[in-house]
Amino acid sequence: MEETSKGNVDAYELPWVEKYRPTLLSEIVGNEETVHRLSLIAKEGNMPNVIISGMPGIGKTTSILCLAHELLGPAYKEGVLELNASDDRGIDVVRNRIKAFAQKKVTLPPGRHKIVILDEADSMTAGAQQALRRTMEIYSNTTRFALACNQSSKIIEPIQSRCAMLRYAKLTDAQVLKRLLELCDLENVPHNSEGLEALIFTAEGDMRQAINNLQSTYSGFGYVNADNVFKVCDQPHPVIIYGMIEKCTEGDVDAALQSLRQLWDAGYSALDIITTTFRVVKSYSQMEEGTKLDYIKASAASLSKTSLTIYTGNWTDAHADIGRCAIARATLGFDRPTL
Ligand SMILES: Nc1ncnc2c1ncn2[C@@H]1O[C@H](COP(=O)(O)OP(=O)(O)O)[C@@H](O)[C@H]1O
Ligand SMILES: [Mg+2]
Repeated sequence: MEETSKGNVDAYELPWVEKYRPTLLSEIVGNEETVHRLSLIAKEGNMPNVIISGMPGIGKTTSILCLAHELLGPAYKEGVLELNASDDRGIDVVRNRIKAFAQKKVTLPPGRHKIVILDEADSMTAGAQQALRRTMEIYSNTTRFALACNQSSKIIEPIQSRCAMLRYAKLTDAQVLKRLLELCDLENVPHNSEGLEALIFTAEGDMRQAINNLQSTYSGFGYVNADNVFKVCDQPHPVIIYGMIEKCTEGDVDAALQSLRQLWDAGYSALDIITTTFRVVKSYSQMEEGTKLDYIKASAASLSKTSLTIYTGNWTDAHADIGRCAIARATLGFDRPTL
């Protein structure tokens, strides 16, 4: 990232996720214990093979890059091989490129190892992973591996057992908010608190998404409020959904259907509407637990119906009644209609 800002690229045009990507482990937000473990590794120098797993956008790749920079300093360029999912990482690449890198003589600070970074390692085929496992064994005294993945279960067992497994949890709303506020200050972004709440609501713990949406809203509208955020994110406005649920709870299904119609006419799909309903209900604090559960069940049933409808190609037909069913079922306890 430093290299990019030194080039001809106007720093203004850089995506903020890159511009503000932490360069030190200490700048990474959240997952304190795990990040602390990485800092200890960076300090002591004897890096084990590691796998960092967790949802997208929570700092896995960043952590590995920070770790490698802190371990190798100026020797990073020579001492690190980065391979991500867009590179070809089939068996041959693992055998040849990684092997050539592992055999290369490089001068490193004392006690340090060369590092191979394999981002999104869960997208590698089992065959390539087997080849990787052999390479890991053969070059273990000079080369260490850092893998990032969304699902650790997609990494073959023999690799897992050779690595320290670090799991990152999704970031809390407070953690995302704090970082968004920092960026608003740094970039002088006019905002109100509903706008930031909307960013947090849509990002669901994904910092990358929160920052991207902040930048898009700012560059599109110049002001970060809830309306602009939901326009940018192209999601139904939770306030409308909230109103719809409120009407349901009061038993006023006609009014609720009117809100639904409004979203429908605005072009949102059943999936958009149901997904947002689900999330609004989840965070609806005044609702009784039992009722909440009914709504969640109804949304889930509608979701599976929606996917089924897409699957069977009968999408438009069943479209209109899906949202209606969700509401009616949740409110009045209707049975689930058959397709
Ligand atoms: N924990 C975090 N602390 C600070 N910034 C973060 C964090 N997680 C993500 N980001 C921001 O999002 C971008 C993408 O993060 P990244 O590490 O690539 O996520 P992942 O690999 O988990 O999908 C980073 O460049 C940074 O701007
Ligand atoms: Mg990543």
